[in-house]
Amino acid sequence: MFTRMQDGTADDWAVIGAAHMEHFTKTPSQLMDMLRSLEHVTLGFACNQLQHSLMTGTLARRDGASDEEVTIALLHDVGKAVNIPNHGAIAAEIMRPYISDDAYHAIYNHQQFQGKFYFEFLGSDPTLRDNFTTESWYTLAEKLVDRWDAPAFDPDFEVDSLESFEPLVQKIFASPARML
Ligand SMILES: [Fe+2]
Repeated sequence: MFTRMQDGTADDWAVIGAAHMEHFTKTPSQLMDMLRSLEHVTLGFACNQLQHSLMTGTLARRDGASDEEVTIALLHDVGKAVNIPNHGAIAAEIMRPYISDDAYHAIYNHQQFQGKFYFEFLGSDPTLRDNFTTESWYTLAEKLVDRWDAPAFDPDFEVDSLESFEPLVQKIFASPARML
């Protein structure tokens, strides 16, 4: 195996490629662990971010949403396990190799859609979502935020368990559809 990339051979890259494919099988459990860690992130809301994520996913599931929609509902805030201010971008980039472009953009921009409900209290513009009305993903982002995300801060709501979502996470993140 090379010690400088400049010296790599086809055989080296076959080994590296196989190791990458093996590593990718860990993605679903890594995402489940990231979700689990959100139990310790509350940020002043009425419930912690695991309950919020599970409630968002549960509402989507009970709304007859597609597998991809339930997945992005469940995981739209998973970026908060890494960093809060840009959590939408983080979550969107984590999921990008596995989801549609519309789903990617809906997650990436979900905070600007949520802003309709609170940006006025933070000195920002609550109409930012209006900048996206002509985008193909506008309806999805609106549904994600208005129907599933924004109503999902009830600590007493009986959510579906994290484990109940595991088969879906395993399926959607089984292998990346693209590498970049
Ligand atoms: Fe959220």
